[in-house]
Amino acid sequence: STGVRRGDDGALAVASLDLSDLAAEHGTPAYVLDEADVRARARAFASAFDAAFAEDAGLAGADVYYAGKAFLSLAVARWVHEEGLRIDTSTDGELAVAIRAGVPGEAIGLHGNNKSDEEIRTALAHGVGRIVVDSLVEIERVGALAAAAGVRAPVMVRVTTGVHAGGHDFIATAHEDQKFGLSLASGAAGKAVEQILADDDLELVGLHSHIGSQIVDLAGFEVAARAVLGLRADVAARTGYLVPEVDLGGGYGIRYTAADDVPPTPEQIATTLADAVRRTCADLGTPVPRISVEPGRSVVGPAGLTLYTVGTVKDVALDDGGTRTYVSVDGGMSDNIRPALYDAAYTAALAGRTSDAPDVTARVVGKHCESGDIVVTDVALPADVRAGDLLAVPATGAYGRSMASNYNMVARPPVLAVRDGRARVLVRRETLEDLLGLDQG
Ligand code: LLP
Repeated sequence: STGVRRGDDGALAVASLDLSDLAAEHGTPAYVLDEADVRARARAFASAFDAAFAEDAGLAGADVYYAGKAFLSLAVARWVHEEGLRIDTSTDGELAVAIRAGVPGEAIGLHGNNKSDEEIRTALAHGVGRIVVDSLVEIERVGALAAAAGVRAPVMVRVTTGVHAGGHDFIATAHEDQKFGLSLASGAAGKAVEQILADDDLELVGLHSHIGSQIVDLAGFEVAARAVLGLRADVAARTGYLVPEVDLGGGYGIRYTAADDVPPTPEQIATTLADAVRRTCADLGTPVPRISVEPGRSVVGPAGLTLYTVGTVKDVALDDGGTRTYVSVDGGMSDNIRPALYDAAYTAALAGRTSDAPDVTARVVGKHCESGDIVVTDVALPADVRAGDLLAVPATGAYGRSMASNYNMVARPPVLAVRDGRARVLVRRETLEDLLGLDQG
């Protein structure tokens, strides 16, 4: 009972739970996560990477870290960890969730281009498996904090490979002129490695590359892998130190609408990366490293949807003589900033009933005070769409709740998990009292 289906009464159901019933009990807007789907996606990554990077395939194993920025809660951290994933965090908040969920320190990584001392101390105190360092000054700081804590800090170097990939400029992260990483081309990455090797309080456990997000073409990952493996071979030749692990980051795309490209499966991703690593290391004459990756979106994105209730419906005359039907829902850019931020495309469907009415060209908009508050730019909806209808927007499991805001003093929606026809609240709905409670007068 995984996935979204339409029942005999026309209502959509997630994991056999009717969304009308869910809305009646929990209200809207609400994020709905299919637990079995999240678990299946996590398991698929774990088993694909285990198989493709096995020692009998000539490789040295692989770890998959779930990038918690996509969406992290105690339950989700436990689910993905139970299915064989580790957890990648990038702030004290994400770190706190992973720790409280009971994920062991060695299965947690910490990222960030501007980590606070407190974040680094917390990571060291919990014995995280890796701190991914992002600048030369940070290397000094981590060394000093490790010395003060009386531990040796396991660090990875975030390498900027120069590969430009990703769905939008704001989410492409490995070209030269952006804030992340240490440049390979300028020599900064090599310098970082030397600085770490010279510091007894630091252990260089890996080199790291993340090239961007919402990527469906695997070629960029292969280019980046070759670049990082090349740096590893240079370091080995120069210093005799063979860096044990290479992390190739996350960024695997998902399908938001039927118009989107079909993304590669975890198996295709794992075998393509395994081939690239095997061939490159053979060319370089270096032993293969352990590999890790950090998918976020592709683990939770397709497993979530947002449920809204339709309010005002209004026809607007267009210059070309046509009309556009503006369908307002009870949420908007505060629960999904992605259309406004990245021009991201979504779709929507009636969730509580079906309709025989002909389709109209509709735009689903939110309730915020901005004309850019768009949920779905262009979607065909039945002409009789009306106040009280439920609308489901699929593929909002990643970067929906995690990027939600309280713009216009709107309380953030709950995250509901559905499994075997039953719902459970993972994150409760915010109340106006929660928001007013922050205001000290
Ligand atoms: N690892 C690192 C170092 C990252 O910076 C990211 C994403 C990931 C892994 C996970 O990438 P994923 O597999 O989820 O694509 N908020 C944006 C995307 C920005 C992601 C930033 N880093 C969005 O809504 O599309």
